[in-house]
Amino acid sequence: MNIKMKICIIYGSTSSSTEQAALKIKKNLEVSYEVNLYNIYKHDISIVKGYKSIIIGCPTWDIGLLQEDWRTTFPNIDKINFKDKKVAYFGAGDQFVYSETFLDALGTLEKKISSLGGKTIGYCSSKDYKFRNSKALRGEKFVGLGFDNDNEPEKTERRINEWCKILRKELDHP
Ligand SMILES: Cc1cc2nc3c(=O)[nH]c(=O)nc-3n(C[C@H](O)[C@H](O)[C@H](O)COP(=O)(O)O)c2cc1C
Repeated sequence: MNIKMKICIIYGSTSSSTEQAALKIKKNLEVSYEVNLYNIYKHDISIVKGYKSIIIGCPTWDIGLLQEDWRTTFPNIDKINFKDKKVAYFGAGDQFVYSETFLDALGTLEKKISSLGGKTIGYCSSKDYKFRNSKALRGEKFVGLGFDNDNEPEKTERRINEWCKILRKELDHP
């Protein structure tokens, strides 16, 4: 019998863009892995303790802030030890209206979780986007997958599929 690697996707979403992406990521990855999906609105962050591979979804809201349910959860993240855990990040943003704070939430979460030992996987090129500033940048790359359903929804599906390819390689790498 083949035992599939267990992956947790935990996301927050106010107007459903990030939720839709979470469902697509689940569908893509569950061909190869056991993927469990949690909305942070309904679940405690401690749920991630049972996983070595975690995918976190959070859009940026209110000019550079985390989505509201992640804002409530943020202080509790400190209680989790992320050592030996691979963590990937994705979320929606708006590169034109919020050009100075595009995808900031991804950068804020990645910084916190890395400080608690998490190993970031799934870095993405930032070249296909037009924005002025982002906390999600590490050098020229984003810490994870950003997409912009407000301005270029037609690109989201392709971005998700390409990101899942990157993730698969890094998830399978010991
Ligand atoms: C009041 C408001 C503030 C926003 N602030 C930002 C921001 O600072 N950076 C960004 O990239 N997107 C920002 N956005 C865009 C949202 O991230 C975008 O609409 C996204 O699709 C929402 O994701 P959700 O549907 O998963 O909640 C903002 C949107 C609104 C309405």
